[in-house]
This record gives sequence, C-alpha cells and structure tokens, in this order.
Amino acid sequence: MKRALRVKVMKDEIIKILKEKNDYVSGEEIGNILGVSRAAVWKNISALKKKGYNIISVNNKGYKIVDDTDVLNVDEIKYDRLLFKEEVESTNEEGKRQAVKENCDRLLVTCNYQSKGKGRIGRSWVAEKNRGVYMSFVLKPDIMPQEISQITLVAGIAVMKAINSLTGLKTKIKWPNDIIINGKKLVGILSEMSAEMEKINYVVVGIGINVNEDEFEGELKEKATSIYIETKRRFKRSDVINSVAEEFNLCYDKFLEKGFSAFVEEYNESCANVGMRVKTVGGREEIKGRAMGVNEKGELVIDDEGEMKTVIGGEVSLRLENNKYI
Ligand code: BTN
Repeated sequence: MKRALRVKVMKDEIIKILKEKNDYVSGEEIGNILGVSRAAVWKNISALKKKGYNIISVNNKGYKIVDDTDVLNVDEIKYDRLLFKEEVESTNEEGKRQAVKENCDRLLVTCNYQSKGKGRIGRSWVAEKNRGVYMSFVLKPDIMPQEISQITLVAGIAVMKAINSLTGLKTKIKWPNDIIINGKKLVGILSEMSAEMEKINYVVVGIGINVNEDEFEGELKEKATSIYIETKRRFKRSDVINSVAEEFNLCYDKFLEKGFSAFVEEYNESCANVGMRVKTVGGREEIKGRAMGVNEKGELVIDDEGEMKTVIGGEVSLRLENNKYI
C-alpha cells in the first residue's frame, strides 16, 4: 500500500474506532487494534483535530470524539468527473481554471472548506468549517449566450428537488434561483460564463447550500437558514452533494434535449414570488408590479399596471414592494 493511502486508512480507522466506542479509548488500545505505536496514534489524532474533527484528549482516559463532525471525505462523493479539494478560495474560481482544459464538461468541483466564496452581484458567500456545501459544475453547452440564465433557473429547480426529497422540507424558489424556506435563504446559486458573440466557451454553475449551520450571525441572522435549523436533523454533506449532483445531471440532460420550455410550468409552480407585488433591485431602472412567473426564455414577467415587462436573472435581484426579502 502506498504511504499516503496507509496514512489515510489509519485516520479513517481511528475515527471508526472512536465512533464505535462512543467513549474514551486509550492511545494504547487504539495502537493495539491498529498494530501501531501510541506515538503514531497521537500524531494521527493531532492531524485529525487540525482537519476539524472534534476529538478531546484526557490524561489517563484517552481520546473521545465529542460530536459527529462531518468532515467531507472524497470517497463518499459518487461522481465520475470530480475535483475534490480540502480547501479552495472559491469552487467557481477553481472551476473557471479547470474550464480551459479538455474533457471538463460536467466536471464537479467541491471542497471541504471554501475560504473566499463569491455571491451574486459582487457579494461574498460566507462559510463555516465543516457545515456547508460548496459545489460548482463546469459546463460546455452548445447554446446561445443569452440562454445561459435558463441554466441557472434549471439548476435552481434541480437543487430544490434534491433537497426536498432528501430532507422532506418543502423549499421554494425565490426568483431567479435562491432556494428559500420560511422566508429565509437556504441556497444561493452563482453562474459565471465565458462567451463570444455566438458561442459559449464555458459556464460554471456554483451552488452554496447551508446544511449543518446551527445559527447565523449579524445581518444573516434574519435572512439565512440551514437544513439543520429547519429539520433539527444533521445531514451528511456528502449525501447532499450526491443528491444535488444526480438531480442536476437529470435536469441538465432534459434541458439540453428539450430546452427551457420543458421547465416553465414546474418553475412557476415552485416560485414563491408568483402573484406577489415585487420590485427589481440593481438594474438600470426599477420595475415594480405583480410577478407573473417566468416565460419560455426564462425571463421574469412583471405586470406593471397592465404593461408586461421582463427582466433577466443575471442582471437584477428581486424584493417585495415593501422591501422585504420575501
Ligand atoms: C448568491 O449570492 O446567492 C450566490 C451564492 C453562490 C455561492 C456558491 S458556493 C459555491 C460556489 N463558489 C463560489 O465562490 N460561489 C458559489
């Protein structure tokens, strides 16, 4: 066995022993089970702690895993074309670097920790260690640049469906592609592309999911939520990634075959804004009126006193007319 693999197997085995015992286990006992010295056990436990595992050590008692810290393990992610990194600044940025390479269509970039996540409209996407999911799909679709925003809407449907069937939650979409529940944001999606006049070089669809965060600080307190906060259950982040990746690929296949028109009904049924009085934020002009749903091009149609106006997702955000998020 190669050394790197041996070290990894040893760490996995230590975690297994600690989880199974669910109590203090001495370094000697772990060493005996694995056939290594107490010093080797100590060294591996120190590395596991650095990785984020919450292991406490007490003299004369040994080691104990305090909570079931969910450190992402690459082997648990079931995806053919996968790039997993322990830590990246942004999976979207990493995706864009990969996008220039051959054979990167549908590459999934994900990580245990994202230190400089990007949000829509120049905002940042904050990450807490071992809590959230950060994943980006690199795509090379043969469509026109103006159709890109439709992929982002399709991604929203896919993520919503995956989360609802995994967790039992009844999340909805806030146009264009925030996934929300109880008026708070659970998922954000940021698509970035490189294109010429009539040709797309690549699209990177980045998805940030709040999974096991216990609470949010500051201004996020009012706006953000997590799967844990909503269900009071811990979900393994690898399960979330696997479900989203599977649903995303099904929806993306359907999109490439049938176009966005095949999603209009489903999108509008899942869109929390439909029928509400809204206003656009961040565009060239503010549009106010009643949200009617998206059309076959993926534009949001707003009824401004009888005049039907349309807006595209990449350009603006949406607020309720009274300024509330939803
Ligand atoms: C938003 O502002 O709602 C979009 C947030 C998108 C965050 C995700 S996390 C994975 C990917 N990498 C990034 O840097 N951003 C996206």
